[in-house]
Amino acid sequence: ATTTVGIVGGGPAGLLLARLLHRSGIDCVVLESRDRAYVEQRQRAGILEQGTADTLRACGAGERLDREGIVHHGIRLRFDRRSHRIDFPPLTGGRSVLVYAQTEVVKDLIALQLAEGPPLVFGARALAVERADTERPVIRYAHQGREHALTCDYVVGCDGFHGIVRDAVPAAARRTYERGYPYSWLGVLADVPPSCDELVYAHSERGFALFSMRSPTISRLYLQVPNGTDPADWPDERIWDELDARSATDGPWTLARGPITAKSVLPMRSVVTEPMRYGRVLLAGDAAHIVPPTGAKGLNLAASDVTELAHAFAHLKETGSTELLDGWSDTCLRRVWRAEQFSYSMTTTLHTDPGQSAFDTRLQLAQLDRIASSGHAAAELAENYTGLPFARAA
Ligand code: FAD
Ligand code: DHB
Repeated sequence: ATTTVGIVGGGPAGLLLARLLHRSGIDCVVLESRDRAYVEQRQRAGILEQGTADTLRACGAGERLDREGIVHHGIRLRFDRRSHRIDFPPLTGGRSVLVYAQTEVVKDLIALQLAEGPPLVFGARALAVERADTERPVIRYAHQGREHALTCDYVVGCDGFHGIVRDAVPAAARRTYERGYPYSWLGVLADVPPSCDELVYAHSERGFALFSMRSPTISRLYLQVPNGTDPADWPDERIWDELDARSATDGPWTLARGPITAKSVLPMRSVVTEPMRYGRVLLAGDAAHIVPPTGAKGLNLAASDVTELAHAFAHLKETGSTELLDGWSDTCLRRVWRAEQFSYSMTTTLHTDPGQSAFDTRLQLAQLDRIASSGHAAAELAENYTGLPFARAA
C-alpha cells in the first residue's frame, strides 16, 4: 500500500494532523497500535490553550468542545497559607484556557475520522521505519497477526514518548537534551464536584498538590509523591488527608471528599530531540519532546506542532515549495524550548525537592510572592499558561 503522509500514532498529534491534512485534500493513513476503547479512555491532559481550541474548531471538531468545555479565566496559586488568583484576560490581551479533557478531544477526532476518513487503523503496531534516507520511506507494521508495509512520501512519528519512529533517525543525526525530576505525581479521579471553580496549584513543604477537574461533577487531583511510589500505598483516606494538609489556608476553603474511581503514578521528565526532522521522516508531539505536566503544555505543544506541519504540507501541495517544511523543525523548536522553560520553572517553583534546604524553600516563596504582587511577574505566568500565539492559525 502507498500514501502521501504515513502517520504513526493515533493520539492527539496523529489524529489532529490527519484531520488537518484531510481538510487540505492530502492523502494520509493513521496507524495506531492500541484499540479504540484504550485510546479513548487513557486519562491525561485537561487544559486546552485558546490556540489549540481554535485549531480543533477550524477542523470541525469544535462542537462538543464549545458545548461542554469550561472556560477558565484564571488559576489560584496557594502558598504560605495564602491564596492568590491570577486573572488571565487583563494580563494577556483577553486570553483564557478551556477545561476539556484529552479523552474527549480524542473521542471527537476519532468519531470524525471514522465517519469521513482518512483511514484510521486500530491494532496496527508500527515495527520500524525503513529507507528513512530515501524519497520513499516505508512503515513496516503488524496488524491482525500479519506484517504489512506502507510506502509513503513522508512519515510522521506521532507515536509518543515510547514510539519507534525516532529510532529511524541515525543517532549521529539527532541530539537529545533531557532532565529528570526526583518526584512523580499520584493522579486520581473522584466523583465529587471540584471544591474551587478554578484550578488550584498548591505549594507546601509537604509537597505540591494540584486541584483540577473534568466536569462540574468530577474532580481530577494530583499529589507530588516520591519516584517509585506504589498507588496501593495510598488508600483513599490518606489521599484526602494529604490533599487537605497541602492546601491548608487561612482563608475560606473546604475540600469536599468523594469516591475515588482511578489512581495512577506518573513520572516526570523534560526531553527534547533535535532536529524534529530527518529527510522525509518527521517527529511531532511527545515523540519529539516531553515536558513535566505542571504547566499543562504537553497536549498543546503536540497541537501546535501538527498545526504548523499541516500548513507546511498544504503549502507544498499548493506551490510545490518545501520552504515551510524545511523551516518546520526550527519553527517548532523555538516554541518547544519556551514551553520547556516555563514547565521547568512552574515545576521547580512549586515542588519540594527531597534534598531542598530551607534557603531553597525561601527562594520559592519569594518567587511566588513576586508573582502575587507584581503585574509583570503575573503577566509572564499568564502569557505562558494561556499559550503564546501559534506561528500560524489553522
Ligand atoms: P500520545 O498521546 O502519547 O499518543 C501517541 C500514540 O501513539 C498513542 O496512542 C500510542 O498508543 C501510539 N503508538 C505508540 N507506539 C506506536 C507504534 N509503534 N505503532 C503505532 N502506534 C503507536 N498536556 C497538556 O497540554 N495539558 C495538561 O493538562 C496535561 N496533563 C497531563 C497529565 C498527565 C497525567 C499526563 C500523563 C500527561 C499530561 N499532558 C498534558 C501531556 C499530554 O497528555 C501529552 O503531551 C499528549 O498526549 C501528547 O500527544 P501525542 O499525540 O504526541 O502522544
Ligand atoms: C491537569 C493537568 C496538568 O498538568 C495541569 O497543569 C492542569 C490540569 C489536568 O489533568 O486536569
